[in-house]
Amino acid sequence: MFTRVLALRTYEFRLNGVDVEMAFERGLPRVLADAGQLQQALLNLVLNAEQAMRGRATRRLEVGASYVADAGAVQITVSDTGHGIEDGNLGRVFDPFFTTRDVGEGTGLGLSICYGIVRDHGGQIAVDSQVGVGTTFALLLPAYMPTAANEELLVAHTEQGERDYVAAMLAGWGFGVAFADNASAALARYRAGNLGAIFIDGGIVAGDVDAWRAARQAKGGSIPLVLTSGAAQGDVAKFGREQAVALLTPPIELRTVRAAVQAALSHDDFGDGRADANETSGVDAAPAEAGRRTGSTEDSTSQSGVSRTGEYV
Ligand SMILES: Nc1ncnc2c1ncn2[C@@H]1O[C@H](COP(=O)(O)OP(=O)(O)OP(=O)(O)O)[C@@H](O)[C@H]1O
Ligand SMILES: [Mg+2]
Repeated sequence: MFTRVLALRTYEFRLNGVDVEMAFERGLPRVLADAGQLQQALLNLVLNAEQAMRGRATRRLEVGASYVADAGAVQITVSDTGHGIEDGNLGRVFDPFFTTRDVGEGTGLGLSICYGIVRDHGGQIAVDSQVGVGTTFALLLPAYMPTAANEELLVAHTEQGERDYVAAMLAGWGFGVAFADNASAALARYRAGNLGAIFIDGGIVAGDVDAWRAARQAKGGSIPLVLTSGAAQGDVAKFGREQAVALLTPPIELRTVRAAVQAALSHDDFGDGRADANETSGVDAAPAEAGRRTGSTEDSTSQSGVSRTGEYV
């Protein structure tokens, strides 16, 4: 796929004297992605790099891919030796319509489109730049890893953007995902069973903390719960401390969600009072609930929330 993107620009690279280097780790895992969208994102980055290197003495484009184990993600980097981005602009480059180009030369949409595509795939995009030296964009995308659990993971979040983001991460790792956008739907799905873990935001719990306590008690607290926001507030905070194997503090990031998934699904972490995630920044470990997770035999009544139309690329 990288070669396909770079091939589109071969003529310009030669014309403008751009050296292209590729460095791909061997044996990279696959990522669940819409190949066309991912190509579009990469092409935007390559076009920006080309533009930034115009008229510069050294013109080198490096495209790399490697595996980042703690995030369970493939990192793709696009580096150039262009003019770089001023510090004051670094935080704005992903904003729609932000451009430093002359009127008519750029819309300022390229990077905001990249950002949207990467987030839709449950990933993250970051930029690092030094004026006069060059710029590197780094994409992290969840890497598909065959998972043993055949249960779904429930993502219950009132805010659609965050819900889709967490769901896309989980789906990218190969989990089946169910959604809920309100407390009663979440409770119904929880009671229906066949869940490996639940990712729930404080807003959903806050609606009825007692109902959640009762529902958890009815199931013997046997489904690991990760609180994805609102862990600091009143009743919900107390609920989180009692019930959650991990508490995520916003912003939600691949590494912290991955650590929470591992804490939730690693049987060894139950019963000893601490979750694995407590070493990872952004994830506060909460006391684990008593009792180990046991395979649920209940039938699932939900529809998987994430359609798997992507292909592994
Ligand atoms: N590799 C890079 N090196 C230096 N500056 C960059 C680089 N990539 C992006 N930028 C800066 O970020 C701004 C926004 O980039 P973005 O791709 O969103 O829009 P654009 O390239 O200006 O317009 P469009 O992509 O719509 O043609 C650019 O105008 C430029 O100032
Ligand atoms: Mg652009």
